[in-house]
Amino acid sequence: MSIDDALFQQVKQLHKTLNYHAHRYYVLDDPEIPDSDYDKLFRQLDALEQQHPELVTPDSPTQRVGGRVLDFFSKVTHQMPMLSLSNAFNADEIKDFAKRIDDVLDHENFSLVAEPKLDGLAVSLRYEQGILVQAATRGDGSTGEDVTQNVRTIHSIPLHLSGVDYPQVLEVRGEIFMPKKGFARLNEKQIEKGEKPFANPRNAAAGSLRQLDSKIAAARPLDMFCYGIGVIEQAGNKSLTNSHSENLQQLEIWGFAISPEVKHCTDWQECIAYYQSILDRRADLPYEIDGVVYKVDRIAQQQKAGFIARAPRWAIAHKFPAEEAMTRLLAIDIQVGRTGALTPVARLEPVFVGGVTVTNATLHNQSEIDRKDVRIGDSVIVRRAGDVIPEVVRPVLSKRLQTAESYTMPDHCPVCGSLAERVNNEAKSRCTGGLYCPAQRKEAIKHFASRKAMDIEGLGNKLVEQLVDVGLIDTIADLYHLTAVQLVSMERMADKSADKLLNSIEKSKQTTLAHFLYALGIREVGEATALALANYYKTLELISQTNKEDLQKVADIGPVAAHNIATFFSQPHNQEVLEKLLAAGIHWPEVMTKAADELPLDGEIIVLTGTLSQIKRNEAKALLIELGANVSGSVSKKTTMLIAGEKAGSKLKKAQELNIKVLDEAQLMDLFESA
Ligand code: IVH
Repeated sequence: MSIDDALFQQVKQLHKTLNYHAHRYYVLDDPEIPDSDYDKLFRQLDALEQQHPELVTPDSPTQRVGGRVLDFFSKVTHQMPMLSLSNAFNADEIKDFAKRIDDVLDHENFSLVAEPKLDGLAVSLRYEQGILVQAATRGDGSTGEDVTQNVRTIHSIPLHLSGVDYPQVLEVRGEIFMPKKGFARLNEKQIEKGEKPFANPRNAAAGSLRQLDSKIAAARPLDMFCYGIGVIEQAGNKSLTNSHSENLQQLEIWGFAISPEVKHCTDWQECIAYYQSILDRRADLPYEIDGVVYKVDRIAQQQKAGFIARAPRWAIAHKFPAEEAMTRLLAIDIQVGRTGALTPVARLEPVFVGGVTVTNATLHNQSEIDRKDVRIGDSVIVRRAGDVIPEVVRPVLSKRLQTAESYTMPDHCPVCGSLAERVNNEAKSRCTGGLYCPAQRKEAIKHFASRKAMDIEGLGNKLVEQLVDVGLIDTIADLYHLTAVQLVSMERMADKSADKLLNSIEKSKQTTLAHFLYALGIREVGEATALALANYYKTLELISQTNKEDLQKVADIGPVAAHNIATFFSQPHNQEVLEKLLAAGIHWPEVMTKAADELPLDGEIIVLTGTLSQIKRNEAKALLIELGANVSGSVSKKTTMLIAGEKAGSKLKKAQELNIKVLDEAQLMDLFESA
């Protein structure tokens, strides 16, 4: 054996030994040797690699410490899409799920596997010849980001599969998460360093995985449980085993960590019992979960059940109910929105609920306050579900103090003093101050600058508030006259960021008519309506002169939107702002009339229903309009096509009765892609 060979063998042996002990420590939680022995072996390998850099391989245990700093994450197209799961919230929905499976399987016997639904981020790990070559986030399911450098630093993920018997290509899917303890320690450190703590373990895990500097990611306590297989290529290309549970066992043999809570269930009733037992132990689990998942066990049966849109029919997530907590309602403040809507906001004694500390919650409007009989000083139940705004559910009457005070919304705007009115039986009252009201002005400017509007990068909410407060801007048109000297006088504004901001203000002058219309913030004119208006009238001049009857010719513009649009353009102060904006140099390319043969959906009258998971409903609507379709809100004989997302209800039924063509979300995405 030559010296080179001997060295190579020594390095390989060190890999093997270190991997073995890391697996015992991080995956099996059952170390065989003391940490100091491990460190000694690690240093030995490190020294050899320092002397012979040609011996460093991507699967070397030394590669876990990170070091490479990226400029950006490259995109990864998933060879097999990463799907989502349909949700259920109660036992009845699980019974229905089981019934659907029973039907598609022609009453064949089937069993299920129940697993915790981890609250982290889905990733796909690709192994070629047993070596981890790529790790990608889920992204939109079709394309994610390449986070390989960061994933290599996670000790419970094998860099090299154990054993010899593995496929040429293997993609393993699972959830990366931050255990509760690690999260608490990380936040302590963040606070010590004077940095902002993370809201919850999921955000912390996501933030860590998206670090361009893998050294930072390496220092974060990330972990992973695997729950499935994506691509698998091997001689004969047969599926790995006959069942999901055997797949998980095989993954364990190759060195992956699988949740110890996975349980085989013979029927849906057993799944419900599993759900209950996990829910009871939720607080004691070392990681956050937001429900459980049930999957048909046999692969052949999974294949028979197939998919609905972007989710398998053979699996379902049984979500935990929204979390609730009790706290005290200290005060009620009024928030003034962009369109003047006054929203009562509860100021709360801080309380930890649903993974974050909540200090404010919405009370919606006066009728809700009355209906719930919420009073200032009450002990209240606060609820938070997912990423939605926390709300006050009810007061705890048994704890009500004599001093609790009922609340009536002011009849004047608390910011500008204008009269607040409730019109058209709306639940919310609105400040009538319009752009005279600083609160509405601030919100209007924030909206104008937002990404989907004029996209002025660097003009954050805090800065807008400051600029209005010190009187540097009154209307959106004033943005285009800001100077560097004015900007650097603002808090936390250095020369460089002022320059950057002025640049993006300049850049925003080149826009499209649709973006500009949307940016004006006319009530009921969202992205899709703005696009429809632009496509129909082609010029701002025409739109601003059209009366409200004529405006209703545009698909999906009803009497209310038409009224708002016509009123907006009839007001002299709005005309004045528009003139100033155009004089400042805002411009857009002419809206081209597309020939009908360029508009694949010309003449189609389309209705969207149900929940879409791949694309926001508004975006889908805007795209359909762009392709020439008329998008309508209700199904009638005139409808030519229905797009049915998840949980489509009566509209789907009606469309089927009327024999109207129905597309699911996957077919819609295909349509967009081919167009
Ligand atoms: S299976 C084809 N199993 O839930 C099925 N997903 O809504 C694909 N998740 O993006 C997913 N724990 O991030 C599956 N035990 C589990 C899971 C799980 C968490 C997440 C995953 C996925 C999302 C689907």
